[in-house]
Amino acid sequence: MSTSTSAMESLLVENRVFPPSEAMVKAARVSGMDGYNALCAEAEKDFEGFWARLARENVVWNKPFTRTLDESNAPFYQWFDDGELNASANCLDKHIGTPTENKVAVIFEADDGTVTKTTYKELLARVSQFANALKADGVKKGDRVLVYMPMTLEGVIAMQACARIGATHSVVFGGFSAKALQERIIDAGAVAVITSNYQMRGGKELPLKAIVDEGLGMGGCDTIKTVYVYQRTQTACNMVAGRDKTFDEALAGKSTECAPVPVGAEHPLFILYTSGSTGKPKGVQHSTGGYLLWAKLTMDWTFDLKPEDVFWCTADIGWITGHTYVAYGPLAAGATQIIFEGIPTFPNAGRFWQMIERHKCSIFYTAPTAIRSLIKAAEGDAAVHPDRSDLSSLRILGSVGEPINPEAWMWYYKNVGHEKCPIVDTFWQTETGGHMMTPLPGATPLVPGSCTLPLPGIMAAIVDEVGNDIPNGTGGILVVKRPWPSMIRTIWNDPERFKKSYFPEEMGGKLYLAGDGAVRSADRGYFRITGRIDDVLNVSGHRMGTMEIESALVSKTDLVAEAAVVGRPDDLTGEAICAFVVLKRPMPKGDEAKAIAKELRDWVAKEIGPIAKPKDIRFGENLPKTRSGKIMRRLLRSLAKGEAVTQDTSTLENPAILDQLGQAY
Ligand code: PRX
Repeated sequence: MSTSTSAMESLLVENRVFPPSEAMVKAARVSGMDGYNALCAEAEKDFEGFWARLARENVVWNKPFTRTLDESNAPFYQWFDDGELNASANCLDKHIGTPTENKVAVIFEADDGTVTKTTYKELLARVSQFANALKADGVKKGDRVLVYMPMTLEGVIAMQACARIGATHSVVFGGFSAKALQERIIDAGAVAVITSNYQMRGGKELPLKAIVDEGLGMGGCDTIKTVYVYQRTQTACNMVAGRDKTFDEALAGKSTECAPVPVGAEHPLFILYTSGSTGKPKGVQHSTGGYLLWAKLTMDWTFDLKPEDVFWCTADIGWITGHTYVAYGPLAAGATQIIFEGIPTFPNAGRFWQMIERHKCSIFYTAPTAIRSLIKAAEGDAAVHPDRSDLSSLRILGSVGEPINPEAWMWYYKNVGHEKCPIVDTFWQTETGGHMMTPLPGATPLVPGSCTLPLPGIMAAIVDEVGNDIPNGTGGILVVKRPWPSMIRTIWNDPERFKKSYFPEEMGGKLYLAGDGAVRSADRGYFRITGRIDDVLNVSGHRMGTMEIESALVSKTDLVAEAAVVGRPDDLTGEAICAFVVLKRPMPKGDEAKAIAKELRDWVAKEIGPIAKPKDIRFGENLPKTRSGKIMRRLLRSLAKGEAVTQDTSTLENPAILDQLGQAY
């Protein structure tokens, strides 16, 4: 664990500051820095009292909790644990009988531009009906259900229906492979899969059900009793008699009323697999009560949500952002939200801007990668520039998933927000459940590229390798000193790994280790994330483990002897995957090398998913190793960047190998 040189290089000084407008401060829920400081002071003074108050005000409890935080089995913290609630009731039923019931909950825009609107009342009926279908097939509280769906309203319905009956969902992003799906089904012990025949992306019809069939066919998935198939397109797909049913078949004759099942606050609402430092993805387990509280509250705080807002988070439900800020948060907060099936570049790269105009979007939340690619497109073609669309409905902009470089920030601020919309640069993780550090639109002066300050109640700090605080202006390791309600509860099936990964003994066992490096500015104490300090890469905002990709490569046993994967900076995707490979055959050259590289990329796509395909593949007769046999990754990182190796190579067993690996073919 060390802060890398590239991370330290990015500790650039940023002097531009954009304070919120007076009007914004006046109208905001958290109004001005005084408002922010008052909440922080409340949390400092009476930590449990602060969270108890918020949980009472923001969550509908079937049975009120009497205990706020139980630390007796730390780091397996429990929040509100004797309280009972239902997450779906908190997102839907709560609005019935209020003016929100006939409000549009979801504006769905399909890949081909077709728009459908669904009110809260209608959504409740659809979720209830699907919940009844699950119940009829014996799916019950505590069962795990795997969701492998396109970015459609039906995906959200599937998640909400699980929550309604107390089943724990595990959503797998539609870009993951059959193998990845099979591994997650086995690890979670899922009883059912909810999928779709095909998905539509960028005008293309891509299979989903066929991948499910392939995954289930790989064996070990005998726990699966039912596969529900949403017919997104007219094209037929294979259906296995006795196991598979279409949505229509499952819903036939089912009532549109279904009483929500109250569960304990600590009941696992979902498991979401994410990449870590080892080859095996981690099943991040989230609670119901604490998670829901933070999903709702961060909608109110970070986005300063107003009843008339039209909220749009562009993330897929396969990622945590799509869980908290599509499937749960906006509904719990009673918002009207846009759900978009397609991709930002179809039918052209003006799609996002055209959609903002079409639906009068007021809060727009997306990833830096998308912004960077749309900048490039707009610079190349005036027809897709945001200027071509009326973006006057926008009030607040958001960024998530990776550091946003100040140039992209400024472009977003000027060209999309017209210098009147604050940008909330939200730092958080799959494990944190919701935002951790972010500016508040009516309070925090903005600094491009900085996620500014922790939310009230989030005790973030920067420490050294043994957990001691370090002064502002010095880069270090980002930790959180106290638990918070929406934090990861454990790693499914692996509590030991949970402890080791997030509460390492070397740091005293009590600090939550985010896995990122950070630095606080000397003047304002603002946080700037400097990047991961472990073997996790962030490619286009997608989290990938280097070991995961290495394992995939070496599992091609007929070809690969050894592989090492590192990240290198990339203007568009943030980081790019670079693989160094030793083959079990003589060094390939020219076309042969190209063909093998393609074969290996396709292999990784099959093993993990297309998002894990290495951008660069370099072949060598060996890897740079110390005399004790350890691969020197820092050298590989320099080679991947195309830099001259300036590090000390005296401990290297085979220095000549550097020249060979330095050759990008
Ligand atoms: O490195 C940080 C980066 O994304 C990681 C978490 O990835 P994931 O669990 O997939 O969740 C992404 C969506 C919340 C973090 O450890 N990251 C996320 N947001 C930011 C960020 N880095 C810098 N600035 C951010 N705003």
